[in-house]
Amino acid sequence: SKSFDSSSVLESLRLDNDKLRQMMQLLEQEMEAGLSPATHKKADVKMFPTYVRNIANGSETGQVLALDLGGTNFRVLLVNLLPHSEVELTSKIFVIPQSIMLGEGVNLFRHLADCLLDFMKKENLIQPGVRYPLGFTFSFPCQQEGLASARLSSWTKGFTCSGVVNEDVVKMLQKAIDEKNISVQCVALINDTVGTLMACAYKNPTTAIGLILGTGTNACYTESLDRIGTWNGDYNEPKQVIVNMEWGAFGNNGRLNYLRTKYDEEVDLSSVNPGKQIFEKMISGMYMGEIVRLIILDLMQQDLLFIGQRDHYGDYKTPLFTRGGFYTKFVSTVETDVGIAFANTRRVLQDVGIRNPTFDDCAIVQHICKNVSKRASRLAGGGLAVLINRINKPNITVGVDGSVYRYHPRFKRNMEKCMKLLVNKNIKFDLQLSNDGSGVGAALSVAAEVLSTQNPK
Ligand code: BG6
Ligand code: GLC
Repeated sequence: SKSFDSSSVLESLRLDNDKLRQMMQLLEQEMEAGLSPATHKKADVKMFPTYVRNIANGSETGQVLALDLGGTNFRVLLVNLLPHSEVELTSKIFVIPQSIMLGEGVNLFRHLADCLLDFMKKENLIQPGVRYPLGFTFSFPCQQEGLASARLSSWTKGFTCSGVVNEDVVKMLQKAIDEKNISVQCVALINDTVGTLMACAYKNPTTAIGLILGTGTNACYTESLDRIGTWNGDYNEPKQVIVNMEWGAFGNNGRLNYLRTKYDEEVDLSSVNPGKQIFEKMISGMYMGEIVRLIILDLMQQDLLFIGQRDHYGDYKTPLFTRGGFYTKFVSTVETDVGIAFANTRRVLQDVGIRNPTFDDCAIVQHICKNVSKRASRLAGGGLAVLINRINKPNITVGVDGSVYRYHPRFKRNMEKCMKLLVNKNIKFDLQLSNDGSGVGAALSVAAEVLSTQNPK
């Protein structure tokens, strides 16, 4: 496939170290803009202070409910915090229908309350005189005014519910809970990055960063109060707070255009939020498969791929010709093939409607997947390196979660490889997969907040 190698496709995806270092500098500038009161309003990378300042230390015990909304699955959880940092978990996944994701906000929160009630009935948690505290993992950008007060600044990841932007999400949830007479009080709202950081810190005190590489991408980290111009809270100990960066919005102002491709532009334009979440659209699971699909279609157009198969495409209703038809999990599957048999790649191609791919076809498709995921991992790794160098402690643990990081065969390795080059030599860093998900982190922030004074049992 000589012509493929010389095609401009690969060239446009290449992200060399110079471009990556330039990206890191830009990100630092955008972070400063988000942290400074003079520029925060206009800034893309919002750097929201979260009001989570205390990391649970393992002494808290009791039962906490949690809701976890914004990733692949919506979950209701009961977290039982036992002595000696032990955690017992019961959880149930509920579906959020597309009609609710795109409908009216009140209906979204009614649905969440319905699921909560259903779960509590099944778990036998409805008992007279018992009022449970609840932590809400809500993985969208929010301007917080306290732990239990958060205004949605914009929807991301395919949600567009009306009547929620600029509203207090905790109030909306609590109203729906109260309407159904459920004896539950929402006492904390956190981002999934924060939940991941908390859950990881509970076990490892060097944790200073939470990273999500899933449906969306984002990071949070512990920042000293004196570096946060927008901080409105008190300056008591500990003089730090977790900052939710919302780095997915990096590049909304055009500053990443120097490394975007026409495929990135197409993905953006056909999304429900064009012009928004530019960095996220180059990295996360909601978009990675779609980038690959668009590249495949472009190469077919140029007669560089699936040559001579054109008559077999049929009525163009196959997944390959459908937006979103090439799932991000296919990227992982294709990259799992080693050697020349391409068994997985053939299966994936069959699934999307290509009947008899040649060896070259398979090799090219795998090559595309590798380049798209490698670019994503380098962008995420570069972003992480900025945070690690900024925190500048000798040992830094990063709690990581999300389907892309979890299931892609090389994502972690590729990130670490580029980070070795970009992280200052005096710092040792460690990427730790978080096991319990952000729901536990929500419960922990509740615990740190209330369980010392109030216990439901
Ligand atoms: C999980 C969290 O740990 O990671 C979710 O509990 C979060 O709330 C998720 O959004 C990110 O992964 P994904 O791939 O499901 O978006
Ligand atoms: C999106 C959301 C952000 C979340 C991330 C990962 O970027 O805006 O809040 O943390 O996805 O789920």
